[in-house]
Amino acid sequence: MRRERLVVGLDVGTTKVCCLVANVVDGIIEIIGMGMSPSRGLEKGVVVDIGRTIQSIRKAVEEAENMADVRVDNVFVGIAGKHIRSINNSATVSITRPDRIITKEDVHRVVEAARTIPLPPDVELIHVIPRQYIVDGQEGITDPVGMTGTRLEVDVHLVMGSVTAVHNLVRCVESLGIRIAQIVLEPLASSMAVLSSAEKELGVVLLDIGGGTTDISVFRSGDIWFSKVIPIAGEHITNDITVGLQTPIEEAERIKKEYGTCLVDAVGDDEKLDVATIGGDGTKTVSRKKLAKIIEPRVEEILDLAVQEVEDAGYRDLIPAGMVITGGTSLLEGIVEFAQQRYGIPVRRGRIPQGIHGLRDIVESPIYATGIGLLKYGVEGRDFARVKATRGRSGGLLTRLFGWFKKFLRG
Ligand SMILES: Nc1ncnc2c1ncn2[C@@H]1O[C@H](COP(=O)(O)OP(=O)(O)OP(=O)(O)O)[C@@H](O)[C@H]1O
Ligand SMILES: [Mg+2]
Repeated sequence: MRRERLVVGLDVGTTKVCCLVANVVDGIIEIIGMGMSPSRGLEKGVVVDIGRTIQSIRKAVEEAENMADVRVDNVFVGIAGKHIRSINNSATVSITRPDRIITKEDVHRVVEAARTIPLPPDVELIHVIPRQYIVDGQEGITDPVGMTGTRLEVDVHLVMGSVTAVHNLVRCVESLGIRIAQIVLEPLASSMAVLSSAEKELGVVLLDIGGGTTDISVFRSGDIWFSKVIPIAGEHITNDITVGLQTPIEEAERIKKEYGTCLVDAVGDDEKLDVATIGGDGTKTVSRKKLAKIIEPRVEEILDLAVQEVEDAGYRDLIPAGMVITGGTSLLEGIVEFAQQRYGIPVRRGRIPQGIHGLRDIVESPIYATGIGLLKYGVEGRDFARVKATRGRSGGLLTRLFGWFKKFLRG
């Protein structure tokens, strides 16, 4: 039987809001609508102005609705910001029934135990991702239901965020009459869009360097082991250019994209460019080397901070597949070579994988990595945050956040 449904991803970024509508037929994602608008109400990945964020979301959603000719009423929405924390936890339960066959209830029981950690009142769980199950010592099991055993263990990755940050994002979306299928950690979404299963198996770090945040995720043995969001990214580079070249912010943004590079030594001494002066009444000529000298140290700082996080978490030597970079700032000239030289590991730009159809030429840009990842998450995500809601334990916000994925769109 042909299974067809609509899935919508909403990436509320610091520089842009992007809404992608996909028709999913037998697990194949076909993008049928896209809307994008400049983001006005976020700083460093977090909503700071609800009214302006609502306007940006409305515009992106309406554009996508018009293009796809559907009404969006349920979305997978990304969340980032430095309030995000993640930890790994595990739990064990005994199977005491005489037949010793593991049931769905046993799986829920063990996951429930692994997710039960003391949380401060201003923090809530966003994801409960089972990494592997272990049945009587046998590791690496992804679905233990139906197996026989006496002891069931689970390793989970738990992601937490500030109640206020989550709540503000939820308010913005819900005030437009749109329900949230699930809040998804942006680093996790991006990883679903650009990492290959071979890389995830071997060990890899993904950096999504956007406008306001750099999202880090580390994968090993096919699973997520570490995730973190740091509040420094492309906008900081633009700000440095504004100050360093005494030019308006829009002009700094333009020249960064057109002439920017982080390889000072690769720029010839005779390369020049015209830059608008502040006040807007004239231009001046500056050397491209000067521009590169402004950009390089900031890129170095962003990458060093990210690599330090990976090192502090203990994964620096566990990423043989190296580093993949995505997000708008991954388009900066020379960034791959720079990272490769500095850390001595393989580095590549993330590409949208096979299996995504429709508007491919548009969504191929790394600024859509999170949006595409949200669609993939909507189709493939296995997250036990929803278990809680369906069992009716939590009530309130979480129940609404993680309500079962039902019918997405009304035509
Ligand atoms: N060609 C380019 N060279 C350098 N930087 C670029 C280029 N194209 C886009 N950028 C930068 O990428 C950033 C936007 O990236 P992206 O769209 O991934 O961010 P976002 O999702 O809105 O923000 P965030 O994820 O940080 O909340 C901007 O800072 C922009 O200047
Ligand atoms: Mg982003």
